[in-house]
Amino acid sequence: MNAFYDILIVGAGHAGAQAAIALRQKKFEGSIGLIGNEKYPPYERPPLSKEYLAGEKPFERILLRPESFWAERDIDLLTGHRVSRIDHLGKTVALTSDDEISFDKLIWATGGSPRMLDCPGSQARNIHAVRSRADVDKIMAALPKVENVVVVGGGYIGLEAAAVLTKLDKKVTVVESLDRVLSRVAGEALSRFYEAEHRNHGVTLELEATVAGFETGDDGIATAVTLTDGRMLKADMFIVGIGIIPETGPLVAAGAATGNGVDVDQHCRTSLSDIYAIGDCAAHSNPFADGAMIRLESVQNANDQAKVAALDILGEETEYNTVPWFWSNQYDLKLQTVGLSTGHDSYVVRGDPDSRSFSVIYYRDGKVVALDCVNATKDYVQGRKAVVEGLNLDKDELVNTEIPIKEVGVR
Ligand code: APR
Repeated sequence: MNAFYDILIVGAGHAGAQAAIALRQKKFEGSIGLIGNEKYPPYERPPLSKEYLAGEKPFERILLRPESFWAERDIDLLTGHRVSRIDHLGKTVALTSDDEISFDKLIWATGGSPRMLDCPGSQARNIHAVRSRADVDKIMAALPKVENVVVVGGGYIGLEAAAVLTKLDKKVTVVESLDRVLSRVAGEALSRFYEAEHRNHGVTLELEATVAGFETGDDGIATAVTLTDGRMLKADMFIVGIGIIPETGPLVAAGAATGNGVDVDQHCRTSLSDIYAIGDCAAHSNPFADGAMIRLESVQNANDQAKVAALDILGEETEYNTVPWFWSNQYDLKLQTVGLSTGHDSYVVRGDPDSRSFSVIYYRDGKVVALDCVNATKDYVQGRKAVVEGLNLDKDELVNTEIPIKEVGVR
């Protein structure tokens, strides 16, 4: 480990790895250190709740780059280290091992840690998160002896895990505190469609259900989750997918402007000089959210902010203003989302949900702001322009699936 790097990147997920890659692609010749707290080289996180959990893809196939890539590009991969403190004036970071590393520029790309429940019994060993390879390896090791699983949280993580576990013949119950699944990311029509799909696959959904605690045996293993209405759901494994908490501690302590994550400008600069923040932990003013300060938890945001930070460091003109996109695979359903539907005031459904291929197009103030496309990749590809340009697509034409979206008239 060097004691100094021209560019020190903290966090070796999608964002941090992409920042290092982008710098080398742009022919940056200085030294780069990439610190990761896991012991593995950078890997893709989305498959963890999908193909990796299903045992369909081995770890080698979800690596972001072959293991040899980092040394070949002269990027020092410092795995198994955690930054505990930042001295932004002295331009050093301290590691939990007490080592110190100096930098010229720092890129903070630490993402978030899974939010866990804090209630009686919540420390039991068979209550799992789905955020890191280690989390999922623990689940996979335990699965052969598991019959019943309770998943807490009906977001992407919870529903993707439920779909995989059902396929693996487990009996799954999803406990969601709100009155519909996917409420953070999608409109009601989509939520209802996914609820029906999960029920058809044998998943039990408990909506508006709040966890009070876990029953645990003498061995510290949870045997049931109790709900606030007094009901008890027995299971031998519990999975919690209730969102993430951005990892910002050392930056907060160093005095960076923070709120919901670390505040950054359009160049991904924090309020501290020579310190950038990118990815899940970076709160930025997003043009596709009417300029609101938001964090985006997505591969798109990680990659695109990484490129912006890299270019800004290299002195190139650039601003972050990319259209957000996301995806989720559940059963044989491929959901592709472009734009942000939060705050929409109307929507239209294009195609018949019963055909399991349809799209929901969201409007705000007469402009298309997002599309959720289920097994409808063509709509997703063609609808992007409407989101980017804020077009007012003709709703009567839009519901006619004979007319491709790119040919729908604009009002
Ligand atoms: N009990 C039950 N449900 C809860 C509770 C709770 N105590 N707290 C939150 N929820 C529900 C929310 O209402 C929401 O539907 O859990 C769901 C969490 O969904 P997300 O916030 O989308 O978080 P999650 O699915 O965990 O995803 C975390 O991983 O794949 C990525 O894009 C995903 O970045 C996101 C992250």
